[in-house]
Amino acid sequence: MTWSAQQYSLFEAERTRPVRDLLSAVPPKEVAWAADLGCGPGNSTEVLLHRCPDAAITGVDSSSDMLDAARERLPGLRFQQADIAAWQPSDPYDLILANASLQWIPDHAALFPQLAGCLTPGGSLAIQMPDNQDEPVKRLLRQVAASPRWADRLGDERSTRFPRHPATWYYDLLTPHCRRVDIWRTTYWHVLPGGVDAIVEWFKGSALRPFLALLDPQEQPAFLQDYRDALAQAYPVQADGSVLLPIPRFFLVATR
Ligand SMILES: C[S@@+](CC[C@H](N)C(=O)[O-])C[C@H]1O[C@@H](n2cnc3c(N)ncnc32)[C@H](O)[C@@H]1O
Repeated sequence: MTWSAQQYSLFEAERTRPVRDLLSAVPPKEVAWAADLGCGPGNSTEVLLHRCPDAAITGVDSSSDMLDAARERLPGLRFQQADIAAWQPSDPYDLILANASLQWIPDHAALFPQLAGCLTPGGSLAIQMPDNQDEPVKRLLRQVAASPRWADRLGDERSTRFPRHPATWYYDLLTPHCRRVDIWRTTYWHVLPGGVDAIVEWFKGSALRPFLALLDPQEQPAFLQDYRDALAQAYPVQADGSVLLPIPRFFLVATR
């Protein structure tokens, strides 16, 4: 699947707000080494840099388009093209940030303890993942993909379904490796002045990408129209013409 930094960044202010909320909950510690896993176009890395301006920061991402944008934005930092699932740094980190990236990686039972093992004593793993699998935006995406018109090409697409574990599961997974595990969930009600079309644009930057990748370019507008029509039933237009897009997000700060 390919990513587009330009499409992703259309809603950058909304997508970056959880990074600040996440980092504000990290216990204080001098940070010499920090990493941003799934750094995207560098928006989360920039917040990390403000939090620890003296740290040596590495941004990691698998997408060359995202990395090009991140390097242009933050030329003084180091960016590395790598798969987070296989990321094994030679030295430990004081702070590892992963904002809106680990939900794309299936095996959390292996990944999360592996990342906790990359921390210095007192170091923190700060993770945020959208928890919106049951929201109409995701449910309707699966439903439209499984409809007779699209099922033969899209019915097996599974990226909107993995991985999903309760807070209690993450707590038990990480407490053997970390002395403190702090978990919370927040719903952001994003105001989208562009109405339902803006919801489609938002997800063209993320959850729609694996689906669109399976379609020919000439088929994509019809699929997007079907998705838009389904969304219009679920997201009423407010009196000022905007729609409210609720996105529940799961936060976890694990400190070694
Ligand atoms: C939704 S964006 C998050 C960008 C940024 N961290 C933010 O806070 O907005 C997810 C990023 O994770 C990256 N990504 C997804 N799976 C990955 C993997 N297995 N290894 C490395 N990067 C991955 C994508 O390329 C994308 O840039």
